[in-house]
Amino acid sequence: MGSLRKFIINFLCSLGFINDRRVILRGPRERLHYPDYPNGPGIIFNTNSGSIFVGNKVVFGHDVMVLTGKHEFDGVSFKKHLPDKNDIHLGDGCWIASGAIILGGVSVGAGSLVCAGAVVTKDVPPGVMVAGIPAKVIKQLNQIPKPQATVA
Ligand SMILES: CC(C)(COP(=O)(O)OP(=O)(O)OC[C@H]1O[C@@H](n2cnc3c(N)ncnc32)[C@H](O)[C@@H]1OP(=O)(O)O)[C@@H](O)C(=O)NCCC(=O)NCCS
Repeated sequence: MGSLRKFIINFLCSLGFINDRRVILRGPRERLHYPDYPNGPGIIFNTNSGSIFVGNKVVFGHDVMVLTGKHEFDGVSFKKHLPDKNDIHLGDGCWIASGAIILGGVSVGAGSLVCAGAVVTKDVPPGVMVAGIPAKVIKQLNQIPKPQATVA
């Protein structure tokens, strides 16, 4: 996207005239590493307990939540707990479909697909499709380029 166009869209978003690219950020802005920010239809990024690294060409459906926030709760008291080690990595070329929730401390491998409504609680390898709660691998996508064979 041209930089002037991006500037105008961001400006209109900040005034509330455009909603479809709305990104909601909870927590420090400097912990969100997202080259295309603020491009996301209703995504919530929570950086309260860690950083979020979004790769290149990551596609988001609407209403995705990427949540590093952690708290202490023992059934009686609720305390803020901010270890700053609950980072989330979304690899290049992932598709995070609508309504998916990515929890803290998780990495989604390059080229993987997180299906709509999945809750990702553990690392996702590259090039697979995951679905469900908690998200499980459903199938290989086979789109990861294989390394070239080398001749000794
Ligand atoms: C990614 C997506 C299109 C894949 O759906 P699909 O093409 O039907 O997937 P497949 O045919 O490969 O399904 C393989 C299996 O996974 C299951 N599955 C597919 N999507 C699922 C989901 N979101 N949650 C749980 N299971 C799912 C299928 O039921 C099927 O199970 P089965 O083998 O027991 O029959 C779909 O999950 C999805 O996320 N749709 C919404 C896309 C979206 O967010 N659009 C908005 C703009 S980005």
